[in-house]
Parts: sequence; structure tokens; C-alpha cells
Amino acid sequence: MAADHVAPDQGESPDGVDKKRRRLLTQCVGVVGAAGAAAMVIPLVSSMSPSERAKAAGAPVEVDISKLEPGQRVIVEWRGKPVWVLKRTQDLLDSLKAVEGDLRDIASDKSDQPDYAKNEYRSIKPEILVMVGICTHLGCSPSFRPEIAPIDLGDDWQGGFFCPCHGSKFDIAGRVYKGVPAPTNLEVPPYYFVTDNRVLVGADGGAA
Ligand code: FES
Repeated sequence: MAADHVAPDQGESPDGVDKKRRRLLTQCVGVVGAAGAAAMVIPLVSSMSPSERAKAAGAPVEVDISKLEPGQRVIVEWRGKPVWVLKRTQDLLDSLKAVEGDLRDIASDKSDQPDYAKNEYRSIKPEILVMVGICTHLGCSPSFRPEIAPIDLGDDWQGGFFCPCHGSKFDIAGRVYKGVPAPTNLEVPPYYFVTDNRVLVGADGGAA
């Protein structure tokens, strides 16, 4: 399933949760059912057998990142979950070292990610982050907060993800801070680069 028509987003203010969820769903639907693709997919799906439908629902999702600017994120849906694809700036990458002393699982030893993403960036390419956008506490979707030291998150905030449900904080690699309810880092799904500008979410290197 390809996801080419994606509206990038550059962070969001800490509004109410319902509004945030509504926005997330809108974005996911916008990606998965983009333009004429939806009209073509529905008759096809209705003619599928239950096993074919189950297979399609779990299928990898290809994402075009050719128009993604540094600091922008796109959201796609994979297996019913929001998956973020974020192009990090050099400043955001530099922030990862600065926050290490405040993190609970710095080396991601207790967190979920493929082996190729078990590194300081939690990614294959440092600048491209691919991450399941679901809080590891109770499943809310954290906000993308790339700003440095915003008023509501404090002077120490170096950019990352904030879950407004119960206040969990994650750095820009999805690593959880100490002293918040979320027990582990955000999950990294399997993925690989089909080309420099196309990422396949949901499959490991070439084994779709
Ligand atoms: S669901 Fe994220 S902090 Fe509780």
C-alpha cells in the first residue's frame, strides 16, 4: 500500500486530547485513502476473501519522503496504528546527547525496536526517524514538540514528544524520560529504505 499524498506537519501546540485524536485520524485517513486511491481500493477490498483482507490490513506501507523538509513529520497508518516518519534537523540530532542523563532506557535495552534501530538515533539513517506514535503508558498518541524550552515544558526541554494524557515525555528519538508514567521508549516498527526517498514501513530489508 503506497502513501504518497501526505501533508507534513511541523509540530503542534498542546491542545485538548480529543482535538488531537481527531486531527491524527484525519491525517491517517488522508494518507491511506488519498484522493482517487480510495475509490479504487474499496471495490477491490469488498471482493477479497477474509484471509486476503486480513493480509491487506497487515501489509507494509510505502511512504514517499521526497518532499519532507528537515523538521517535518508525516503520519501513515500501519496495522491500525499511527506511524511517524520524521526528518530530524542537525540541531535535533545534537539534542540527543544533551538529554541522555535524564532518560530511563538510554540504550533501548528494555524497549521495542529492530536490531538495526537499537542505536543512539533509534533509526537506520540518523536524520530519518520512523516510530509508532503510541505512548507506551496507556496508548495515547504523543504530540510532536520540536521546540526548545517552550513555556509549558520547561527550560530543559530540547525537543521531542509529549503525551498530554499523563505527562510522559520522550526525546526526539522516542526515548522516555525518567519520572514519567510511560515505562519504555516508543516502539520502532520494522522498516527499510526501498530507495533514498521511499520507506517501506512494516517489513525488514527486502522481505516484504
Ligand atoms: S498514555 Fe501517555 S502518559 Fe499515559
